[in-house]
Amino acid sequence: MLGLGTLTRVSRELREDLTAAQDRDPAARDVGRVEILLTYGGVQALLSHRVAHVMHDAGVPFAPRLLAAATRTITGVEIHPAARIGRGPLIDHGTGVVIGETAEIGDNVTLYQEVTLGGTGFQRGKRHPTVGDDVVVGSGAKLLGPIEVGDRAKIGANSVVIHDVPAAATVVGNPGHPVRVDGERPSGPDADWAHLPDPVADAIRGLANRVGELEELVAELTGRKPEGAEVRELPNRRGPDSVGG
Ligand SMILES: CC(C)(COP(=O)(O)OP(=O)(O)OC[C@H]1O[C@@H](n2cnc3c(N)ncnc32)[C@H](O)[C@@H]1OP(=O)(O)O)[C@@H](O)C(=O)NCCC(=O)NCCS
Repeated sequence: MLGLGTLTRVSRELREDLTAAQDRDPAARDVGRVEILLTYGGVQALLSHRVAHVMHDAGVPFAPRLLAAATRTITGVEIHPAARIGRGPLIDHGTGVVIGETAEIGDNVTLYQEVTLGGTGFQRGKRHPTVGDDVVVGSGAKLLGPIEVGDRAKIGANSVVIHDVPAAATVVGNPGHPVRVDGERPSGPDADWAHLPDPVADAIRGLANRVGELEELVAELTGRKPEGAEVRELPNRRGPDSVGG
């Protein structure tokens, strides 16, 4: 089970995990690798998972789950020993991340805190997501069921994703829907899911127009100039950098 080859692989994976933290967490760029190992719960959880996964694959009973449970207590990250995680992952901040038994994660994937790769019911077999390479999953996002997330996709913070995600798509909302594919807005009659009708705002706008008409009528009758009724759109506030810790 724990032959030289396995030890070499796990130590290589640890080195790649540390490099991923330095490369993809701006706060870790000037932090030494030992300090990252001692202080980054996500990196510790991944190292522990590598060991638990080796034991799980070798058929060791109980110990892998015990290790996963202890790791959850210490780091707040719960990864089932059977979950498959590729090279160079980053679990940034860590706390609240849950990765289910049949989840599969490609290379260079970034998960932020509170991400769930979970199932949707009590069925057995493959029931957790398969996540491609170079995917970013924003904080609080829930990816549920045996869905496939294509390479280079970005999942917005707090999204709930229950359908497959195309490669290079940006998916946001609940239920998650693509708002960009390869940087372009999806086209087609029903593709603009990001701008859903807002009946409350429409009703207020209608009332404001009606008040405006009535004011003009009163002004005509009384000769007093009305003050304009104005409905202001909510500003679209965007931060400078949409992905980053
Ligand atoms: C999804 C995300 C990656 C989008 O990045 P992007 O590809 O640069 O896309 P944009 O910022 O151009 O956003 C595309 C559209 O989705 C909307 N959007 C972005 N993130 C969203 C979110 N989490 N929820 C809802 N809508 C979102 C934007 O307002 C924009 O809408 P528009 O089409 O009306 O302009 C990013 O917004 C995000 O959520 N990153 C996660 C970051 C995170 O979790 N950080 C934790 C650090 S501790």
